[in-house]
Amino acid sequence: MLAYRHAFHAGNHADVLKHTVLLRVLEHLNLKDKPYRLVDTHAGAGGYSLRDAAAQKNGEYLQGIARLWDRKDLPGPVADYVALVRKFNTKGELEHYPGSPTLAHAVMRPTDQLRLFELHPTDHRTLQLGFKDVRSAMVMHADGFAGLKGQVPPHTRRGAVLMDPSYEGRDDYGKVVQTLRDALLRFAEGIYMVWYPQVSKHEAARLPKQLKAMAPKGWLHATLTVQKPDSQGFGLVGSGVFLINPPHTLHGELRTVLPFLAQVLGQYDGATFQLEQRAV
Ligand SMILES: C[S@@+](CC[C@H](N)C(=O)[O-])C[C@H]1O[C@@H](n2cnc3c(N)ncnc32)[C@H](O)[C@@H]1O
Repeated sequence: MLAYRHAFHAGNHADVLKHTVLLRVLEHLNLKDKPYRLVDTHAGAGGYSLRDAAAQKNGEYLQGIARLWDRKDLPGPVADYVALVRKFNTKGELEHYPGSPTLAHAVMRPTDQLRLFELHPTDHRTLQLGFKDVRSAMVMHADGFAGLKGQVPPHTRRGAVLMDPSYEGRDDYGKVVQTLRDALLRFAEGIYMVWYPQVSKHEAARLPKQLKAMAPKGWLHATLTVQKPDSQGFGLVGSGVFLINPPHTLHGELRTVLPFLAQVLGQYDGATFQLEQRAV
């Protein structure tokens, strides 16, 4: 089942959280000259027109990146993220949203390696086309859960993994845990970042607890809740990112970022955030 298309969601509040944090991880890796590898196990199409019918259907980006677009009071990490998205919108208007592979590639060095997995045939083709001239990138039409073990550890033993599944089926939650467990055995010092939705499912509530138990060398967990559940008690109310072996500076950065995002992206009075870590 591959019904999920990120084009409907590009630039929403969840992308804002995920991509702001992803850029901090990569900037941290950029502090040392030694090359690293980023594996994006669920890469999407790499870029999305916000003028297309998909993005316009629910206008999710209007409650996400659009709310930040013209603000002059952005905290540093959010300002960096918006400035990067602006580079893909040269006319100054918000028309295009770059996905995680494109944002990552924009800040990575030519010696760093990008490994991209995408299963949806259309999104894979778009991604492959977008990266066809990028020598440091490999685009794979394959299952990112299964493919990760062939990508870690990188030769330099420096690297990060973004795991951003669609959670269409409940088994994605279990696959995240199992895939990370295997990857940690091969590459314990890697930085692992998992995105997950805040939805009323037992599996979603359990996921951060399971991940905490797997990360003896330290973790960071950040959530951003922006809206109420619908009248049936369902719907995406927010999202979370869980990092294993996070950069030591990330917690301090998110202390200013998360309250700001909760205030600016919040769609009701109860909008809130959570930030916790276990540092070693
Ligand atoms: C949330 S989207 C990715 C968004 C992207 N990471 C970004 O931030 O721009 C999830 C993507 O995973 C793809 N997908 C679903 N199951 C997959 C799997 N097992 N392996 C690789 N890709 C998969 C979907 O087609 C979808 O494009």
